[in-house]
Amino acid sequence: MASQQKTILVTQRLPNAVENRLSRDYDAILNHGAALTQEQIVSQAHKADGLLVTVTDQIDSNLVKALPNRVKIIANFGVGYEHIDIKTAGQSGIVVTNTPGVLTEATADIALLLLLGAARRAGEGHVMMRAGDWHGWTPTSMIGHDITGKRLGIVGLGRIGQAVARRARAFNIGIHYHNRHRLPLKEEAGAHYHDSLESLLAISDFLSLHAALTPQTQGLLNTRTLSLLPRGAIVINTARGDLVDDAALVESLQSGHVAAAGLDVFSGEPHIHPGYTCLDNVFLLPHLGSATTGTRNAMGFCALDNLDAFFSGQEPPHLVTL
Ligand code: DGY
Repeated sequence: MASQQKTILVTQRLPNAVENRLSRDYDAILNHGAALTQEQIVSQAHKADGLLVTVTDQIDSNLVKALPNRVKIIANFGVGYEHIDIKTAGQSGIVVTNTPGVLTEATADIALLLLLGAARRAGEGHVMMRAGDWHGWTPTSMIGHDITGKRLGIVGLGRIGQAVARRARAFNIGIHYHNRHRLPLKEEAGAHYHDSLESLLAISDFLSLHAALTPQTQGLLNTRTLSLLPRGAIVINTARGDLVDDAALVESLQSGHVAAAGLDVFSGEPHIHPGYTCLDNVFLLPHLGSATTGTRNAMGFCALDNLDAFFSGQEPPHLVTL
C-alpha cells in the first residue's frame, strides 16, 4: 500500500474509478478543468511527489529540469511515452512509467474498424445518410474494396500489431510484418517476416502502423515510401500521427495511388492536416484507440500500480528506460 501522505499532481480529468482510488491512497491534486499548461504543471508541482500525465502533456527537457526535487516519479496514463523526455528525467533522478498491455485489444479493434471503414467507404456513407443525400441502391454506387484474401502489412508486430493480426486472420487476410528483428515463431503465428520496410511496403494491400514514435520512425511514411506501396493500397494508423508525412499522404490519396486511409492519430492533433478534411477517401477518428470504459480504467489502475510500487520502495511494474 502506498504511503498516505504522498501527493500526486494529475494533469487531466481521469475516469471516476481511477480518481476514487487515487484519492483514497494519495493526496491527489485533481484537475477537472482544461488540461494544465506546462507553466501550470511546473507551478503546481512544488506540492507534489509525483505527476500523473497523459499523451497530450509535453513533458520536455525544460519542463523536467524546472520540476522541484520533490518530484520523483512521472506516471504516464498511456503506453506511448515520446512526449516525455526520458533522458532528462533519468538525469534528474525521476522515474518514468507507462501502461503497456491494457490497451492492446481496444486499439486493435479500432485498427480493424479503420481498415473496414476505409475499404468499404463507411465514413462517406455515414456522412451521406446524415445529410439526407442517399438516392437509393444502384449496382454501381459506393463501390469499395474487397478485404478477404488481401495482404496486410504490419509495421511493428508487437502487442497491438499481433492483436490486429489475430483479428485480420478471421478475414482470411495474409499477414506480413516488418520489425527490426524477426520474432520467435510462436509470436509470428504464421506471419511473413520482411527484413526491410521497403520489402513489406511492396506487397501491402493494407498497411497498418504499430511502431513507437522515435527519431528513427518519425515520417516513415513519406513520398518515397508511399510510392513503394502497390497502387490502390489502404493505409491505417492507430499508432502516432508523426509516423506519417501528412502532406505526402494527402497527395497520394488525391492521386489515388493510396486508395484510402483510416486514421485515428494525427501529427499536431487535435489540429489535423486540412487536406484530410477535403478528401472522401479518408476515414477519420479522434484518437479513440483506447477509448472504452474498461480500457481507460485499466490504464489508470496500471498507472496507480506503478505509483504504489514506487512509493512502497519497489520497482514499478512498468518502468520506462532508454
Ligand atoms: C497511448 O496510450 O499511447 C495511447 O495513444 C492513448 O490512447
